[in-house]
Amino acid sequence: MDNIQIIQMNNNDIDEAISLEESHNIHILSKSILENDLKEKNNYYLVAKSNNMILGYIGISYVLDTADIISIVVSHDYTRKGIASLLLNSIYEFCKENNISRIMLEVRETNTVAQNLYLKHGFTKISERKKYYEGKENAYIMEKKIPII
Ligand SMILES: CC(C)(COP(=O)(O)OP(=O)(O)OC[C@H]1O[C@@H](n2cnc3c(N)ncnc32)[C@H](O)[C@@H]1OP(=O)(O)O)[C@@H](O)C(=O)NCCC(=O)NCCS
Repeated sequence: MDNIQIIQMNNNDIDEAISLEESHNIHILSKSILENDLKEKNNYYLVAKSNNMILGYIGISYVLDTADIISIVVSHDYTRKGIASLLLNSIYEFCKENNISRIMLEVRETNTVAQNLYLKHGFTKISERKKYYEGKENAYIMEKKIPII
């Protein structure tokens, strides 16, 4: 897709980002969590925008050499157009600039779409957390190593 900007999320983006998350029935973030996260060091959030509309976002938290993906969501109308990949690629650049050499994430066992995305991006499954989601669904823990020059 043309004309997509990947830029840092700011407070004006919060409501739209939360709506996007809710449209996928995901409840990882809330307005207050995002407000807090955007203030704190050690978090980094990006949005993909086109014509001033948010098409997707990603958030990570990081400590020393490790980052965790908090959330990555793309608008229903714009999936499978490479937007999540653009967001992830920008995160790898950020990691390289900040000496972050590995990225971790948790994904639902049933979320094969997201797993496909991560596998395509070189993440590997390193372990499983049993009944992690709602005390029912298993989580896969995935990891990607980032080469630091
Ligand atoms: C997962 C998600 C972020 C992917 O976003 P996206 O912008 O559509 O992803 P991309 O277009 O960059 O796709 C990259 C790769 O991911 C995989 N993928 C993406 N959508 C897929 C689908 N519907 N079915 C199978 N594989 C898919 C493919 O390998 C794809 O590469 P390809 O198109 O060359 O085959 C998006 O579907 C989404 O927001 N899902 C709901 C939120 C969610 O589950 N987030 C992850 C929580 S861990």
